[in-house]
Amino acid sequence: MDVDGAEVQTADRAWPAGSAGLRYGGDYNPEQWPRETWPADIALMQQAGVNLVSVGIFSWALLEPQEGVYDFTFLDEVMDLLAEAGIDVNLGTPTAAPPAWFWKKHPEALPVTRDGIRLGYGARGIANPSSVAYRRAAASITRALAERYAAHPALKMWHVHNEYGAPVTEDYSAESVVAFREWLERRYGTIAELNRCWGTAFWGQSYGSFDEVDAPRTAATVVNSTQRLDFARFSSDALLQCFVMERDIIRQFTPDLPVTTNFMATNCGSVDYWAWAKEVDVVANDYYLVGERSDNHILAAMDSDLTRSLAQDRPWMLMEHSTSAVNWQPRNIAKRPGELARNSLSSLARGADAIMFFQWRASRFGAEKFHSAMLPHEGVTSRIWKEVTELGARLGTLAELQNSRVRDEVAILWDVESFWAQDLEYRPSVELNHRERIIAFYSQLWNRGVTVDFRHPTDDLSDYTTVLMPASYLVSDAGRANLERYVEGGGNLVVSYFSGIVDEHDTVPAGGYPGQLRSLLGIGVAEWLPFPEGETAELSDGSQITSWAEDLIIESGAAVVETTYAGGRAGTGAAIVRNSYGAGRTWYLSTKLDGDDLGRLLARALQAAGVRVPDSKPGLEQVTRSSEAHDYTFLINHTDQDISSAVPGVPLTDGRPDPGAARPTVVPAGDVIIIRADRSDGTAGRRSVDVDPVAR
Ligand code: GAL
Repeated sequence: MDVDGAEVQTADRAWPAGSAGLRYGGDYNPEQWPRETWPADIALMQQAGVNLVSVGIFSWALLEPQEGVYDFTFLDEVMDLLAEAGIDVNLGTPTAAPPAWFWKKHPEALPVTRDGIRLGYGARGIANPSSVAYRRAAASITRALAERYAAHPALKMWHVHNEYGAPVTEDYSAESVVAFREWLERRYGTIAELNRCWGTAFWGQSYGSFDEVDAPRTAATVVNSTQRLDFARFSSDALLQCFVMERDIIRQFTPDLPVTTNFMATNCGSVDYWAWAKEVDVVANDYYLVGERSDNHILAAMDSDLTRSLAQDRPWMLMEHSTSAVNWQPRNIAKRPGELARNSLSSLARGADAIMFFQWRASRFGAEKFHSAMLPHEGVTSRIWKEVTELGARLGTLAELQNSRVRDEVAILWDVESFWAQDLEYRPSVELNHRERIIAFYSQLWNRGVTVDFRHPTDDLSDYTTVLMPASYLVSDAGRANLERYVEGGGNLVVSYFSGIVDEHDTVPAGGYPGQLRSLLGIGVAEWLPFPEGETAELSDGSQITSWAEDLIIESGAAVVETTYAGGRAGTGAAIVRNSYGAGRTWYLSTKLDGDDLGRLLARALQAAGVRVPDSKPGLEQVTRSSEAHDYTFLINHTDQDISSAVPGVPLTDGRPDPGAARPTVVPAGDVIIIRADRSDGTAGRRSVDVDPVAR
């Protein structure tokens, strides 16, 4: 161990550290309970099959009651009890909730909002990440914890901070402004370059030096959009610096243990997780159902698929989800029988090797006393407890799934910088909503049983038969070159309207819309035709359209008009255009399609490239994880009717194949069945070679 020097290099900190089987557990907050409760907690954890708990996430005030004075009594005892019981610890650094003594001494570290309000304390959430005092205090408690527990037998991994970026990402204090100027100087080198990239000739915004630049705080009207975009980039980077600082301290003491922090993949729009994922040893994620949406299991699946993609397809951890209702939605809808297992097993199906909850035991006081838990207020007689123990037992039989991977041939592009830019003011219509479009595309693929990865526009896409771009307003020059390379090499790219409109500086490239994609798509857009609220129209194939149409110009001789408008704002002009480019093809959808109209188009584009679109059953989630030897197909029935499925293979009952099981498999209403098939029996391949000749 090198406590003085630079980072110790280790061969592999990949998770799970030396453990066999899947992980099960949750956040454990023993500090909220008298110590007599702890042995009972631990006995119940054993009963539920818990083998990993996250401890100490909000314990800073207890562990360091005065500056530089440490008291590890409670944590020592809890760690020892857990070690004796064979339950591993994912130890939190408590830096998301600095103690009151810190705030009294350093009020300047409290975040300032865009409107200039300095926030108070008595809650949680990060201080200004650029605050020197905050970083110093966070480093001290991290070092003290790492030093004390480095050799503790219960310690198996580190959980740094909690949900960076929530509830506050951007800070507008004086210290942040200084750090922002330094960040800009590193990015642009000279003030002339900043002026060029920010387009400061507009509204007389030119700067004479970096010292004149402010944070893009609330102003009389719209602030320079590139300044806003850069401030979002800077803010994500400032938080990431805090993570890296803590991680590097920890690595000095426990160089072999994985260090992570909990992401909120689709739900933290203020942090660029592509950059963060490179810095964690294992990707961990929190996801809470949107209780009131009837398609909430589809949104959950999308979040899992994005998390797996951030993890570059390595196993990931579902660090938090809920056993039933949360406490912070407008109406906190309880999960009904079986839902807890369906949600958990959907994450497992989509590549998670750990299923964890917030939290172990329901709090009796504080803001989260009405949040569900593994052990609810109702205790061990509750239905939730029964389902928690059943799930623990089931996961205990599924060790062979550990490290198996989901293999996809379709990717959706996901670029948070593009979302930041698109969501600024003065766009052509309030109905342009990147999240809504991604969900619309994703849902149609989910409905058809096609599992997708997410990728950044600059990632190597050559493994994907088809790439979808439902909303990519901003495409950098590097992204543009990468997409051209992908299609030229034989790729199949499906692009929705309002994509490729600006470059990385939120600047429209010379030559008209969609500048970054114009030659690739073989079209130009003469004019956008956003609809007034409530207006609808039709396409020539009878599809309904809303919100948006375009006057398209066909530019490439290889472009083929698939579908035209059938009257309305765009007359009878081209609506959907297919183009050939190199060895590949593109599809451009210039209007807003929904539901089955969208689904049919996507299925056609996928099939044209040889993607097998399975015969799906409504409400049956079907996903396959594969090891070297086996395919494991999860059949998750989200309906209240039994559904039969002819997926080849044998169902796993209590972790063992059940050769006597009836064929075809009947998945009872609300239930989950896992089918195991040998990869050698020819069922492993997900690709089909049937290519629609029309699209060649
Ligand atoms: C998460 C957070 C947990 C808990 C949970 C409640 O965002 O990380 O500490 O507050 O929400 O749903």
